[in-house]
Amino acid sequence: ARIAVLISGEGRNLQALIDACADRRIDGEIVCVLSNRADAGGLLRAQRAGIASEVLSHRDYVSREAFDATMIARLRAHAPDIVVLAGFMRILTPSFIAAFAGRMLNIHPSLLPRHAGLHTHEAALAAGDARHGATVHFVNEQLDGGPLVIQGELSVRPDDGPESLAARVMGEIELKIYPQAVAWMARGELALTGSQVRLRGRIL
Ligand code: GRF
Repeated sequence: ARIAVLISGEGRNLQALIDACADRRIDGEIVCVLSNRADAGGLLRAQRAGIASEVLSHRDYVSREAFDATMIARLRAHAPDIVVLAGFMRILTPSFIAAFAGRMLNIHPSLLPRHAGLHTHEAALAAGDARHGATVHFVNEQLDGGPLVIQGELSVRPDDGPESLAARVMGEIELKIYPQAVAWMARGELALTGSQVRLRGRIL
């Protein structure tokens, strides 16, 4: 499978996907990395892996629609089968979501539907959650609201702060569940029909 990855930051999820493709846990190749920020650390990871990378700064576009139209065109030039949002910090327009409907995934650092939006680790601590984690979901027009694919969870420790919790969610959960979800997708075992997710024919 041809995989495009969209980033805005450090790219730890991107790196996990690069590694999983390299050792064939994912039956696919990352054909391009697109970032909306020129300072995204993930761009260096792409370059080190020999993956074509592009920066599209939203400041160069008069509207969200114009930005998304350019992003769609740049992505289509690489003919991706799967589009992966990995810390991509932009709200996508309906036209972008429609362009890749059913083959676009996102990872969110909470146990959705709990704690949609930003600052999820602070929210989990503030709520006194005993359990917390991350979710991979299909992207639809609801922010952080698409059909769920896989979740990983862990116990919140009494001495946890936002940073320690974020680090454990990233290291113990995110970097494991995203390669798994993309591996299923790359092997054609994961499908979205309407809002129903099927994994190997079974409805999740
Ligand atoms: C991850 O925690 C992801 O869940 C959230 O943004 C962060 C991106 O980190 N959406 P990285 O760029 O993958 O290191």
